[in-house]
Amino acid sequence: MKNSKIPLFDIQLSKQAISNATKVLETGWLSPGKMTKDFEKKILSLTDSPYGVSVSSATDGLQLVLMALGIGYGDEVITTPFTFVATIEAIIAVGATPVFADIDSSLNIDPEDVYRKVRINTKAIITVDIAGLPCNYDAINKICTEYKLPLISDSAHAIGSSYKGKSIVHHVDASVISFHATKNLICGEGGIVLTQHKMIADAVKILSRHGMTSSASERKEKNSWEYDVATTGIKANMSELHAAVGLGQATVYEKEQTKRVKIVERYIENLSDHSEQITLPKISDDSTHGWHLFIIKLNLKSLNIERDEFIKEMDALGVECGVHYKPIFEFTYYQAAFEMNPEEYPQTAQAWKRIVTLPLYPSLTLKDVDIICSQIKTIIKKNKK
Ligand SMILES: Cc1ncc(COP(=O)(O)O)c(C=O)c1O
Repeated sequence: MKNSKIPLFDIQLSKQAISNATKVLETGWLSPGKMTKDFEKKILSLTDSPYGVSVSSATDGLQLVLMALGIGYGDEVITTPFTFVATIEAIIAVGATPVFADIDSSLNIDPEDVYRKVRINTKAIITVDIAGLPCNYDAINKICTEYKLPLISDSAHAIGSSYKGKSIVHHVDASVISFHATKNLICGEGGIVLTQHKMIADAVKILSRHGMTSSASERKEKNSWEYDVATTGIKANMSELHAAVGLGQATVYEKEQTKRVKIVERYIENLSDHSEQITLPKISDDSTHGWHLFIIKLNLKSLNIERDEFIKEMDALGVECGVHYKPIFEFTYYQAAFEMNPEEYPQTAQAWKRIVTLPLYPSLTLKDVDIICSQIKTIIKKNKK
């Protein structure tokens, strides 16, 4: 065993990211400029997306898309309770009400429950591609077509994901990716709104800078101070410094993604004999998994150990694990504000007691994976029913 613990995440910046950031600092111009434009272009090419607007976070990106679609007070947005709170906050931020549909065994939103939850006030659906696994977009799009609803994907985890041979943006009206510090491509804090619709991209851009019709660097280029305010927005553009880091990280992204896939293959090779005690993440022939997270499910009926105890034992054996995610209905605020009853979301309620996130990042070696799996097997052996 290693002397030091194997952490859940390990963040290493590329040389290019550091050099890009230094270049920007030397210019003194930290508002969106050339790096931001180049970063947007790079992400559009990586995701084969027609339009994209960089933003200060995926949370803000989701809010901006809802604003661009005119969603607000009195409107309902269907989403999953099995997500990070950011998805829900974006809905609340525009004054709309989140309506929750349960998940299925993939940990993604269940299209059948989405269908049951559509009501007269439903104005949009937000899917979440948990861990990087694309949702069932064919089934969800059928519902959107029937009820004429826009579809937004919280693809915070899903920069590398595709469904039926095309990246997520091709299956939704807008898709929001996160570049937050632990994601597959990081810039510090930031995100991008991807879309097939120029109108959404244009609206998000203006809304992300207070409704102003031009940015500071555009005014500088034109040598004119003048701008108009076309609407009321928020302040949520990406900074040049973050874009510089992101652009640098983009140079190593594909190599790093290949490493992630190799790590996943090694986990599967090591753990597939233990299907009685552990359910491995769903892989679908329909889609390419983005592998942001590697989430296993403990089969508690075959084990004499609960999830939290399992994580503590892994920690004692030198492996840090995590939980993604504690469902929305487990939080004090959301339970009270939306009178959420876990019994209404049986799949989420039972899945969350079983989930364990294992380390997955490019600097994790295959030897580390073997160590992690051997510790899992030790705990399984001790606690087998
Ligand atoms: C599912 C999901 N949605 C949204 C976000 C928000 O991303 P950001 O930190 O870029 O706002 C996260 C961040 O972890 C997330 O996991």
